[in-house]
Amino acid sequence: NISLEETLLDAIRTIPDYPKPGIKFRDITTLLGNARAFRRAVDELVHPYAGTKIDKIAGIEARGFILGGAIAHQLSAGFIPIRKKGKLPHETVRVAYSLEYGIDEMEMHRDAVAPGEKVMLVDDLIATGGTAEGATKLLRQMGADIVAACFVIDLPELGGRSKLETLDVPVRTLISYDGH
Ligand code: PRP
Ligand code: MG
Repeated sequence: NISLEETLLDAIRTIPDYPKPGIKFRDITTLLGNARAFRRAVDELVHPYAGTKIDKIAGIEARGFILGGAIAHQLSAGFIPIRKKGKLPHETVRVAYSLEYGIDEMEMHRDAVAPGEKVMLVDDLIATGGTAEGATKLLRQMGADIVAACFVIDLPELGGRSKLETLDVPVRTLISYDGH
């Protein structure tokens, strides 16, 4: 009876020096390709929220779409894509967010969420929290009530979890890696 942590750590592949020397890239494609690990990750992320009213899952491009879609189905919730700028066809709200080097912009459709709707934010990994903070701003700008932000992987030394908690967003993560 293998623990959750062991199942997930075994299923996630680490690529050294990608995309740059010194960076260890935590690759979840191997987790997604492992039926048992994928189901386990989705089940564990959602189980505290079973029976809670959640209207929509907001998934962050790109890996947050895969996990968020599965979570939305499991919770019988709708799905909101939060995308890199220029990808969404209708009227959007846009926000700049910080990356490791420089900034980028992300967007959401203006009519994707109604004021007061309960939304869960989903992505594969939280590092500095810049991406999740940007998504939080977009959702709150349109009046969403963010009930939780869920990630498979936490890199706690980069401070993202604390940043979100400072914004009063409850954070759920499944495994964490020390170092970057
Ligand atoms: C990665 C990861 C998160 C984000 C976390 O995405 O999938 O979305 O970085 O970093 P942060 O907490 O420091 O903001 P990336 O920007 O590589 O884009 P991708 O998911 O589209 O590949
Ligand atoms: Mg990402």
